[in-house]
Amino acid sequence: MTQILQPTERDIKLVAEKLRRGEVVAVPTETVYGLAGDATNAHAVERIFFIKKRPPKNPLISHYLDAKAVQQDGVMNGAAQKLAQAFWPGPLTLVLPKSRECRIAKIVSDGLSTIAVRVPAHPVMRKVLAEAGRPLAAPSANPSGRLSPVSAMHVKQDLEGKIAFVLDGGQCEVGLESTIVDVSGKEPVILRAGTITVEDIEAKTGLKLAVYQGDSKGAPKAPGMAFRHYAPRCPLRLTTDNPIEGEGLLTFDNAPVPKGFATMLNLSPSGDLEEAAANLFRYLHQLEEQGVSRIAVAEIPNVGIGIAINERLRKAAESAV
Ligand code: TXA
Ligand code: MG
Repeated sequence: MTQILQPTERDIKLVAEKLRRGEVVAVPTETVYGLAGDATNAHAVERIFFIKKRPPKNPLISHYLDAKAVQQDGVMNGAAQKLAQAFWPGPLTLVLPKSRECRIAKIVSDGLSTIAVRVPAHPVMRKVLAEAGRPLAAPSANPSGRLSPVSAMHVKQDLEGKIAFVLDGGQCEVGLESTIVDVSGKEPVILRAGTITVEDIEAKTGLKLAVYQGDSKGAPKAPGMAFRHYAPRCPLRLTTDNPIEGEGLLTFDNAPVPKGFATMLNLSPSGDLEEAAANLFRYLHQLEEQGVSRIAVAEIPNVGIGIAINERLRKAAESAV
């Protein structure tokens, strides 16, 4: 049985104690729920990969209380400092060169010379980090390939019996995984789109960002982007013509609603992309629970946060069963 714990002082202490002992627990963050373990303990990290059935070549993000703690394990250049100043705590992950005294277990990043780090904003996660007193590796708390979880119940449904506890921090406010920026090279490069957009970063820091387009072999630089991902239990398509029986529609703004859908959810009736991001995984889970035969998604403008939403949806359409 997987138990959902309320974030009382007592249960936060209990969770931190389990993490210090090398156990794996699901915790809330402002982006999505994470499957957390002590990032300095190779056995704990092995458990995370095992529970998620995650390919070992897909490295994990380590979470810290603040930028000072990050610098025990990673080297922050000028660009990294600016980004941290502007966006931490918050939904931004930085890829940094490992420091000489880096404590992070090697298997966290498949022996790479870099680590991915983030200082989350969720108050419950911050209390857990403070109590645990060490960096926590935490990928999204879903079995590899599945929809990302944005409530404690989503985690329980997908990992039932595989973990003892999910700490409940409510519905995730951001709803999409963090933006990833690689600052380990000469120029900062965006590896994964999120709700912090290229425009936000350039406006707040004055940095110029490159968007990584894949190497000469087309391999993505954030290795995770290569894998099957965000898949609902039913097919998903990015067009809305000719619905089949029992099909659900995910729409946006005031797009005309085509006839013949069994059920419909609107990601943001007012056309607000931030609201749509917060609702995306929640509504995909909801349609799935309603047992729709297929999901059709209306067009979402490919600008700002829309880029991050469309990236997830394209992957979901490719990966769906
Ligand atoms: O918002 C988030 O980032 C959430 C919450 C829980 O913090 N976590 C999350 O983790 O999305 P995950 O495992 O689903 O995605 C981690 C991504 C993967 O695409 C992985 O390949 C990339 O980070 N990554 C990790 N370490 C890396 C490294 N050293 N270099 C490049 N990419 C890295
Ligand atoms: Mg994930």
